[in-house]
Amino acid sequence: MSDKLICGIDVGSCKVATIVAVDSEKNNELRIIGFNTTSARGVKKGLIVDIDKVTSTIEESVEKAERMAGHKIKQAFVSVGGPHIASLNSHGVVAVANPQAEINDNDVDRAIEAARAISLSTTRQIIEVSPRDFVVDGQPGIKNPVGMSGVRLEVNTHLITASLTNLKNLERSLQALDIVNSGFVFSGLASAEAVLTDTEKELGAVVVDFGGGKTDICIYAEGALSYSASIPFGARHITNDIAVGLRISLESAERVKLFLSKQFNHKVVKQIKKPETLNVSELQLPENINEISLKELVDGIVMPRLEEIYKFIGEEIVKSGFGEMVPAGLIITGGGALTVGITETGRRVVGLPIRQGVPGRVAGLVDEVLDPQFATTVGLILYGKQNNTIESGSGKNFNQILKNFTIGNSIGKLKDFFKQFIP
Ligand SMILES: Nc1ncnc2c1ncn2[C@@H]1O[C@H](COP(=O)(O)OP(=O)(O)OP(=O)(O)O)[C@@H](O)[C@H]1O
Ligand SMILES: [Mg+2]
Repeated sequence: MSDKLICGIDVGSCKVATIVAVDSEKNNELRIIGFNTTSARGVKKGLIVDIDKVTSTIEESVEKAERMAGHKIKQAFVSVGGPHIASLNSHGVVAVANPQAEINDNDVDRAIEAARAISLSTTRQIIEVSPRDFVVDGQPGIKNPVGMSGVRLEVNTHLITASLTNLKNLERSLQALDIVNSGFVFSGLASAEAVLTDTEKELGAVVVDFGGGKTDICIYAEGALSYSASIPFGARHITNDIAVGLRISLESAERVKLFLSKQFNHKVVKQIKKPETLNVSELQLPENINEISLKELVDGIVMPRLEEIYKFIGEEIVKSGFGEMVPAGLIITGGGALTVGITETGRRVVGLPIRQGVPGRVAGLVDEVLDPQFATTVGLILYGKQNNTIESGSGKNFNQILKNFTIGNSIGKLKDFFKQFIP
């Protein structure tokens, strides 16, 4: 038995967060030993717009996390998200190689490989292949066919694709820092790993990571990941609206927004009308504003933007075709999930139950990371724990497919490591 180091780098629009954890086989826990968050530069709506700035931010964050952990980060799972993410469900069929015996891993691999064979634009890359269910000789709904007897094996898979240019740019940053990419993980999926309960997954639920520059969505239906998307709106839009509405700088607007949610986060908006004004004198804003009308701030600025973003989320749910299969409702996470009025507005606009998702299932230095804004960050190491990594000498050209049937959620996962496009 040996302990394994699992690292994650969450490259967000507002921050780059690095996490180092020990996967201890002895007590089956993931213990965080290093963590850092650094303000992001060079990322907009999940897309890299300035590679040098991104590289230096990752370097700063990684170095600080390494120092805390007392370990060098040689390889890491890396988050990708933003509107360049797309998803589709595909189907693969194979004849079982030895029908006299039982279905084996090799048959499953071939079925998944067949489902992966879709025509894809040269500008896109598959980053996730997640089997939804298997069909053996016409019998659907099978989670793990290995060991069953059958002649014909079919698989329904969920595929997530991303812009190749963006992946290449991220890969360049990592290469410059000598970090091997263990795999790109869709940030919405990583967040789902950190905040979704097994029951919610089984019932059907929508995970919404309301980040700074974008909102990632993952829909689980019948226990399987079934739809992924990302919309180009995030909590920064609320900051912008506050800046414009109150005629203050973006920095002041951000401070007002955080102060507002600190005062009223757990109250419903109806209750916060009691004091008519928000006293912000302790913020000592350079604009010399001491009082802000709550009606103007909450009803006039924050709510309309939240409603708009929830309308887009609602449209994605309808577009997915799984709207009737998500009785567990919305689990909202990401830094924006702390916005005032977030749950009641969501319930009203989308018409589904909703709760805030805080990352969990980890031990160690956890206090700081148990915050919605680190859902993706924590999710990266949980994802890493479930998906085998390979120790690679050079970390290059291992275009190898790995598979791991996880016992807990019984969803077979397949990870493609995208090293082949390193220029
Ligand atoms: N307590 C809070 N109340 C309201 N908003 C908050 C709070 N804490 C963080 N935020 C907002 O959350 C946003 C950052 O969220 P997060 O850290 O999830 O983004 P990110 O991962 O860097 O970006 P993205 O995932 O969009 O690329 C910022 O707009 C910030 O203002
Ligand atoms: Mg994020």
